[in-house]
Amino acid sequence: MSQEVQESNFKVGAYPFFKDLRKTEPVYPLSKEDGNTTWIVTQYEDVLSLLKKPSFIKDQSKLFSQQEEDETPLEVKVFQNMMLDVDPPDHRRLRKLVQPHFNPKTIRKLEPRILDIADDLINEMRKKDGPVDLIDDFAFPLPIIVISELLGVPVEDRDKFRQWSNTIVSAADNTQEDFAADINDFIHYLDILFEERQADPREDLISKLLQTREEGDLLSNDELYSMIVLLIIAGHETTVNLIGNGMLALFEHPEELDKLINDLSLTETAVEECLRYYSPVDFSTARWAEEELTLRGRTIKRGDLVLASLSSANRDEKKFDNPDEFDITRKPNSHIAFGYGIHFCLGAPLARLEGKIAFQKLLTAFPHIKLAEKRPEWRNMFLLRGLKQLLIKLNTES
Ligand code: HEM
Repeated sequence: MSQEVQESNFKVGAYPFFKDLRKTEPVYPLSKEDGNTTWIVTQYEDVLSLLKKPSFIKDQSKLFSQQEEDETPLEVKVFQNMMLDVDPPDHRRLRKLVQPHFNPKTIRKLEPRILDIADDLINEMRKKDGPVDLIDDFAFPLPIIVISELLGVPVEDRDKFRQWSNTIVSAADNTQEDFAADINDFIHYLDILFEERQADPREDLISKLLQTREEGDLLSNDELYSMIVLLIIAGHETTVNLIGNGMLALFEHPEELDKLINDLSLTETAVEECLRYYSPVDFSTARWAEEELTLRGRTIKRGDLVLASLSSANRDEKKFDNPDEFDITRKPNSHIAFGYGIHFCLGAPLARLEGKIAFQKLLTAFPHIKLAEKRPEWRNMFLLRGLKQLLIKLNTES
């Protein structure tokens, strides 16, 4: 398979490609380097079983010799120390520090504030003439305002987070120098913010984590930076795409859109179907094999990298009836858009609440909402799936 074909296959048009792989080569050797293979796994059952296995790990340094800790550049270290990229016991320790702040019960208390934020954004959109970009004007600001307030980072700086975040999720499009410069700017920004919060603590998560860092050995300095970078990025990049991709799926299926407008009590199942149908996260579930495993006749060796495709799993015909059909009343809907196992998305209750509020508020305010472009373009990302923009008309009656 040529490089060109491979790259285009991973963009959003990947669904037919995945369908083919599920049938013909469910454990597919994508490439080989220095004797190790990178595999793509596409069937639901296999993706689930790999994400559950303790022998499929995140920390590559257990398998290959790495640079000495203090030689590691900052832009690499910040990712190595993220909860998302570490294994137990460190993973357990880090997750325990933040879990209480993201439990469904804690998140429910944010509902009135999220409703207000959605109302404010909708009022701003009403003032605009002509088509509106739903991504820029609604899907992006909503989750970034919510996570910024929760963490205690200034909301006015959201465009900076957007740029840094974009650098990270589109890393393949950047030079090493640009990538390093952006990550270093991000860390420098946090340095200043941490100093401010340390001098004048507030009721926010950053102030609480700074206190934890001071109090004992539960959180190192490097881990604190990694945690905040992770929460800012994970806290909005994906939810933008739940709202954007979900609205696109609704526009592509006008009968489902009408059904939802006429009965907003269907929003919860609609959100789940949007997560399944155009899953916002795809390959960021990469794991390294610590032990050899034979799967569907293929031998995955120690040191191989496995890319478990969530969006392929979520369209697996062995798991879902009519998987390519978009059905906002689908039940049961055991999609794995939030992953599975110990790294299951920390922010799932928040993302679900934001998604529900976003669809309900938008469709209540604009029951005649229409797509205003022929072919919305997908962003060029390997790990996530999201749109560059989504131009809509708000009040076209017809
Ligand atoms: C982990 C998806 C929203 C924070 C994950 C994983 C997935 C995912 C698939 C697991 C990755 C893996 O196994 O390697 C999503 C989707 C979202 C969303 C589809 C929105 C629709 C959020 C939000 C937050 C968040 C709003 C805010 C806090 C995290 C964190 C992890 C994570 C911290 C790492 C958990 C761990 O390693 O234990 N997410 N996410 N996510 N997500 Fe989300």
